[in-house]
Amino acid sequence: MNVLLMYAPSATHLSALRAAAPGANFRVASDEPAAAELIEDADVVLGNRYFLQSLPHARRLRWMQSNSMGVDLILRAGALRGDVILTCARGVYDDEIAEHALALVLALARGLHHARDEQREHRWVRRPLRTLVGTRALVVGWGGVGRGIARRLAALGVRVEGVRRRSHDGPMADETGFVVRGPITWRHALPMTDHLILALPLTRETYHLVGADELAALPPGAFVVNVGRGGTLDDGALLEALRAGRLSGAGLDVLESEPPPADHRAWSEPSLLLTPHVARSMESPPFRWERLFVENLRRFSSGEPLLNVVDRDSGY
Ligand SMILES: NC(=O)c1ccc[n+]([C@@H]2O[C@H](COP(=O)([O-])OP(=O)(O)OC[C@H]3O[C@@H](n4cnc5c(N)ncnc54)[C@H](OP(=O)(O)O)[C@@H]3O)[C@@H](O)[C@H]2O)c1
Repeated sequence: MNVLLMYAPSATHLSALRAAAPGANFRVASDEPAAAELIEDADVVLGNRYFLQSLPHARRLRWMQSNSMGVDLILRAGALRGDVILTCARGVYDDEIAEHALALVLALARGLHHARDEQREHRWVRRPLRTLVGTRALVVGWGGVGRGIARRLAALGVRVEGVRRRSHDGPMADETGFVVRGPITWRHALPMTDHLILALPLTRETYHLVGADELAALPPGAFVVNVGRGGTLDDGALLEALRAGRLSGAGLDVLESEPPPADHRAWSEPSLLLTPHVARSMESPPFRWERLFVENLRRFSSGEPLLNVVDRDSGY
């Protein structure tokens, strides 16, 4: 079995991989031309870097392990053969992304974005601010990230409901104790939602799942946060709602176009708090996905079911 690594492994990580798949040949792609050559006879690819560029040269690929949680880019490229197993890094960054969502929710409620803007202008402006306790949040996307956000908000006294695709349309409590809604009834909760929080993958179904109609259904003064994928929220409709003063603010870590073009309204909208897709931030070795890679390689080489297999039809 030939295993191609799209990253330079540390000695410790490489020896863990070797122990997980005794007898496998390991190769490391150090740049794009090397990846294009080495992928030709690779059975397994670990890591994203150079993957899409080299994929057309793959002849016997059976499994690709991504180090991303969302695999929309890989699927959208459309070049991965249907019989190649794709696994993602689901679960690896849940805590970090949930903390970032919480930071955005708190910053919006306490007006930190306005305070910082006013500090730059040497202005001492005392505004009325909001508290989270007793407010209601709807978390759309009930994977590890969405549930992590829900637990954190609940600890601050927020009444949280979740939304998922495969659910009784409820609303009814799931095993986490939170009330969860399905694809039909979730919109009924919008008029009672103070914080609409998106933690969705980008798929055919989730593209613009939240658009002008959903934003209009929120109560005046609501907040919107997106830490999932740009494209699940219609940015244009959001900016309209912010500019019209119908929403109090929004916090976006992801946008439909990243970075937005220089003349994009997102740069200058004062009630919008932008972070540059850093809910999962830059990392230096050892990478948090290393243990997942080792465990999945062990499973693959011994014929056991892999963790985090992507359902190619659903897109996540
Ligand atoms: N901002 C960042 O830096 C960053 C970093 C990493 C990942 N992300 C994004 O975060 C996303 C969520 O991660 P995760 O690991 O929590 O995902 P996950 O475990 O795959 O869960 C996805 C959730 O979305 C729900 N969903 C999918 N389609 C839906 C639809 N049409 N309507 C309602 N709900 C739908 C799923 O419902 P079911 O439970 O019914 O399947 C599931 O609850 C990733 O896909 C990725 O795009 C962002």
